[in-house]
Amino acid sequence: TTHSVAVIVGSLRQQSFSLKVAKAFAKLAPASLKLNIVTLHDLSFFNQDLEANPPADWLRFRETVQASDAVIFVTPEYNRGTSGVLKNAIDIGSRPFGKSSFLGKPTGIVGNAPGPGGGVSAALNLRQVLPGITGPIMGQPEIYLNAIADAFDDHGEIVKESIRPVLQAYIDAFAAWVALHKK
Ligand code: FNR
Repeated sequence: TTHSVAVIVGSLRQQSFSLKVAKAFAKLAPASLKLNIVTLHDLSFFNQDLEANPPADWLRFRETVQASDAVIFVTPEYNRGTSGVLKNAIDIGSRPFGKSSFLGKPTGIVGNAPGPGGGVSAALNLRQVLPGITGPIMGQPEIYLNAIADAFDDHGEIVKESIRPVLQAYIDAFAAWVALHKK
């Protein structure tokens, strides 16, 4: 069986390293996973006043998540946390209360950054935010991709070969995690 994975990219930047990480996963994923890269350019701000009559872009995002068997969040690090756009998407996906679109979906968290920390603080921020609204979050392996600016060329091809086995091990482990939880 094949499982679909929504890979949610937490940066809107055209040359985003988070986007390149997501695209690399799509290339490296085993045949049991079908990765769908989800960008957040069209998502408006969450506003609780609009919940009774949600905007079409919120509904589209929620449907995209609901249609997936699993979710991976690829987060940049902004000021020791995740990005505003990704937190906004998580808030939109988490509602209505008790009906999170992420519920029951095996979940992966991947941090990255050009700096030495590799987005560890952003990833830990998501480990604080997500447990109440997703399915089981994969604990191991954890990957924090530091010096990510050296990893890809402008077309997203891997140029730092040492990152390839790290990404491969992660996506293979995630496939096993999804198979374990989505029989
Ligand atoms: C950053 N950056 C950053 N990096 C880091 O390792 N720790 C941090 O706390 C921050 N804080 C931060 C705040 C803001 C507002 C910006 C714009 C940037 C650098 C950041 O990791 C870098 O710009 C990445 O390239 C952003 O991810 P994308 O867009 O490449 O996916």
